[in-house]
Amino acid sequence: MYHLLGIKYIATEDMMNIFQEAEKFKEVISRPIKKVPSLRDMTIANLFFENSTRTRISFELAEKRLSADVINFSASSSSVKKGETLLDTVNNILAMRVDMIVIRHATPGAPIYLSRHINAHIINAGDGTHEHPTQALLDCFSLKEKFGTLKGLNVAIVGDILHSRVALSNIFALKKANANIRLCGPPTLIPKHIEELGVTVSYNLKETLEWCDAANMLRIQMERQNIKYFPSLREYSMQYGLTLPLLESLNKSITVLHPGPINRGVEISGEVADSPQSIILDQVENGVAVRMAVLYMLAQSKGN
Ligand code: CP
Repeated sequence: MYHLLGIKYIATEDMMNIFQEAEKFKEVISRPIKKVPSLRDMTIANLFFENSTRTRISFELAEKRLSADVINFSASSSSVKKGETLLDTVNNILAMRVDMIVIRHATPGAPIYLSRHINAHIINAGDGTHEHPTQALLDCFSLKEKFGTLKGLNVAIVGDILHSRVALSNIFALKKANANIRLCGPPTLIPKHIEELGVTVSYNLKETLEWCDAANMLRIQMERQNIKYFPSLREYSMQYGLTLPLLESLNKSITVLHPGPINRGVEISGEVADSPQSIILDQVENGVAVRMAVLYMLAQSKGN
């Protein structure tokens, strides 16, 4: 594992090793002194060409807790605004002896493109509608922590599957871990032929919730939609929003995940997000340990 470009490209064994390392790092960051010297000889650049709260802060914390030197780059205040290309920007940053690049970019495949042209380790922190591998790793780690194993677990992914990099990375990760996956959402937001990835599809939220052990509720990605996929947010929320009465009407208790940012009252009600069944803040907490594990494991890899 020299880069982390997507869950599709990593071995199942590497994914399981990340979970094992993350457990150790979770213990480390629960200590009064949360830092270890593992990456004290490394410099890491966080390049965010798209907005982020959780992923950017989580990577920065993970890097600092591993004692790496950290540079934060925001496209909106950089020379990208003057027309500099992605490759020129990254090569200039690497010329300052940077060892690892964490990149979020609106263009699917941007991290893969970079990996073909530069030698530094690259971590995909979300590339357009393609993949968000560390989100899927922290989602799976949180489920594993809750249920003990992912094998045979029934996991629903609900909402805007069409535009979601979180959905795709979760599908690849959950499949590698032998979980069962059902996608649920309006037909317009479920990609055609998605069953070929080994998932089932339902357009009925209640039926999906009765089937699953855990439901990952996705945000409607308004910023990636230039046509209307449903009549109104109100209608979407009535058909596919997770509310407390719906949760309580089920014959069992299910676990609720959300990658954030949440649109309260659209895909999930505030009451559900804050309920004991929600592990949303556990996901955020686990994100730091999982990213420490990824950074640590890539740093050990010397490549070809
Ligand atoms: N889950 C996630 O990627 O959140 P941010 O966009 O805030 O990083």
